[in-house]
Amino acid sequence: MQNKTSLVTGASDGIGLECCKILAAKGSNLILVSRRQTLLDEIAATLKTQYPEINCTVIAADLAAPKAAQILFQQVQEQGLEVDFLINNAGLLQNGFFTQLDLAAQESMINVNVLALTSLTHLFANHMASRTGGHILNVASLAAWTPIPNQNVYAATKAYVLSFTQALHDELNASKSGVTVTALCPGYTATKMMDNPDQGGKLLVPAAMLQSPREVAEQGIEACLAGRPTIVTGLANRLTVALTRLLSRMTLAKIAGRYYRSNMQ
Ligand SMILES: NC(=O)c1ccc[n+]([C@@H]2O[C@H](COP(=O)([O-])OP(=O)(O)OC[C@H]3O[C@@H](n4cnc5c(N)ncnc54)[C@H](OP(=O)(O)O)[C@@H]3O)[C@@H](O)[C@H]2O)c1
Repeated sequence: MQNKTSLVTGASDGIGLECCKILAAKGSNLILVSRRQTLLDEIAATLKTQYPEINCTVIAADLAAPKAAQILFQQVQEQGLEVDFLINNAGLLQNGFFTQLDLAAQESMINVNVLALTSLTHLFANHMASRTGGHILNVASLAAWTPIPNQNVYAATKAYVLSFTQALHDELNASKSGVTVTALCPGYTATKMMDNPDQGGKLLVPAAMLQSPREVAEQGIEACLAGRPTIVTGLANRLTVALTRLLSRMTLAKIAGRYYRSNMQ
């Protein structure tokens, strides 16, 4: 990754922050994107001190805003930066009954999880294909593999990310574009997302079921650089995916619904 440039959305926290640390250690320049400019500036300064050979650029952006992806792409172009590795990681969650959750919050979630991710992939995949190639890592979820009552719009956005990414992987491969795209599917991960009062109810998850954001980021980056279409992190999560192939979608929805209703605070 030396002399390459990676753009990470959701770089201020959780899995995205770990991706930045891993890529900086590999010698990649970074473009850090999220809403909290001051925090991103601090992270960029720390990484620059640790790895003086890399360049860190901060672009504060609300990816739920209209045309956010196009504006971000334009800002990258204006700064003369070429992105070799795009990590579409920024994501929002809403836990609770669909009809009782705030509609605007659910629309923002769709804008970030689906619309911004799709538009950024389109813009940067074209740009990468016109150069020597590149890599795109789209962060989906274990939630992509099954309908989940009480988290249903979130799970649907992640099902979109998984389906979109797997199909695009084949298209880009068939067209010999030199660009690879990978869907990362973490299970429960110990980040702020698991305990964020802005994102609806809190799902109680035993500590043993939580992965660290570091291991999720490592596995995602490794799979993406190896050109794999999909990575489900951890054995327990891969077994869960195997189970989703054996049961009907409504049976899965009933199991998930019972679990979420009895474990949501
Ligand atoms: N944690 C889990 O259990 C889990 C499991 C499976 C998949 N995932 C997925 O992993 C990804 C990262 O989640 P995480 O767990 O690391 O969450 P997190 O700790 O809550 O971090 C979310 C990141 O997204 C950024 N973000 C949120 N809304 C944004 C917006 N409107 N515009 C720009 N940036 C925005 C946040 O930065 P600012 O607040 O500074 O904007 C933050 O950097 C998400 O796509 C999530 O769906 C998480």
